[in-house]
Amino acid sequence: MKLRAIMAVLCVTPLMLSVSRAQAAESVAVLHWWTSGGESKAVGVLKDDMTKAGYKWNDFAVAGGGGAAAMTALKTQVISGNAPSAAQIKGPLIQEWAEQDVLVPIDSVAKSENWKASLPPAIDKLMQADGHYVAAPFSVHRVNWLYINKAALDKAGGKVPTTWPEFFAVADKMKAAGITPVAMGGQSWQELTLWEDVVLSQGADFYKKAIVDLDQKTLTSPQMMQAFDTVRKIQGYFDQGRTGRDWNLATAMVIRSNAGMQFMGDWAKGEFASAGKKSGADFICAPVPGTSNAYTFNVDSFVFFKQKGRDTATPGQLAMAKEIMNPAFQEQFSFYKGSIPVRLGAPMAKSDDCAKKSYNDEQVAIDSGGYVPSLAHGMAQSDAVAGAISDVVTKFMNSNQTSQDAVNALARAAKTK
Ligand code: GAL
Repeated sequence: MKLRAIMAVLCVTPLMLSVSRAQAAESVAVLHWWTSGGESKAVGVLKDDMTKAGYKWNDFAVAGGGGAAAMTALKTQVISGNAPSAAQIKGPLIQEWAEQDVLVPIDSVAKSENWKASLPPAIDKLMQADGHYVAAPFSVHRVNWLYINKAALDKAGGKVPTTWPEFFAVADKMKAAGITPVAMGGQSWQELTLWEDVVLSQGADFYKKAIVDLDQKTLTSPQMMQAFDTVRKIQGYFDQGRTGRDWNLATAMVIRSNAGMQFMGDWAKGEFASAGKKSGADFICAPVPGTSNAYTFNVDSFVFFKQKGRDTATPGQLAMAKEIMNPAFQEQFSFYKGSIPVRLGAPMAKSDDCAKKSYNDEQVAIDSGGYVPSLAHGMAQSDAVAGAISDVVTKFMNSNQTSQDAVNALARAAKTK
């Protein structure tokens, strides 16, 4: 049974609800997966702003980086007729939810605040379904980062790697100095994040052909074989304990000098900031080797669900959409989250040098065609295709499968409808 049909069956009398709502402060139920140190500080800024504006914040945080568990919880809530006021949904999934006819438009806010002129065109488009704005974007995360513990790098006597041979040279030195070279977590989205980083190092055009266009020739090319080979080689620098490890625990290994490096998007920087660590002095953010001219983007956004008895957004939903795009909010949010404001021209005075580098690299990548959507973070493909590719990468990274077999499986996965 489709979500649409289920929603029709669960329809509730409008009158009863609007009466009680008019009397009490509106409660906004918010489903998200921001539960790590930096993430909760960031979402706390929105909670505080909404509370100050007179709304009651009803928090539905579902732990689990990358959001798989949160998405399962959301489906259950919507199907049982308890859709939250807002939920963390991004990329093509915004359109998939809009097709179920369960979202409310927020055009009035988007138009009066002139979102069109304030967002990069690719992101403005993603926020809309059928010509209506249905999502509000927070910030831009760059995914293709390598975080390096400065003391570990110095102890090993290495330099920041810009190519794979340089990376393996540093990793070997760290190993020789008794440091776990690469902190890695154990969930499939983390494996897919590493894999897409390595694919990107074959060039942004290669990445686009492979991951955006799903071009069979590119997917089965010698460069793709090489990408799997490189991932296999990087695996040799993990510790033994990564099974089931959360991303922020892997980041903590780098923060506490228990490991030298981590491949992760810049939400990891929110953890360094939350632990009082400074970029440059305590840690280094560097583009993944071979990807300095490219930028895999991951834009977080909230969509707003129809509430019982009404077809239009509630005052609380409109207030939240407006606040999410408020430049001062975006600055503070990104400061905790490790991202940069998605709103063009938003202030970045409190930003560290990693955020400034992210912003500058973003502009260069947009102009040079190197600005590409992250597959691992739901920006590039439907859930079905991303899931099929993710299964291929997970199988490869958790078995002795050859690169040739993985490439063949990848080509099949890309045909998923
Ligand atoms: C990403 C999300 C980020 C961050 C990360 C780890 O998918 O876009 O905001 O939360 O997961 O949880």
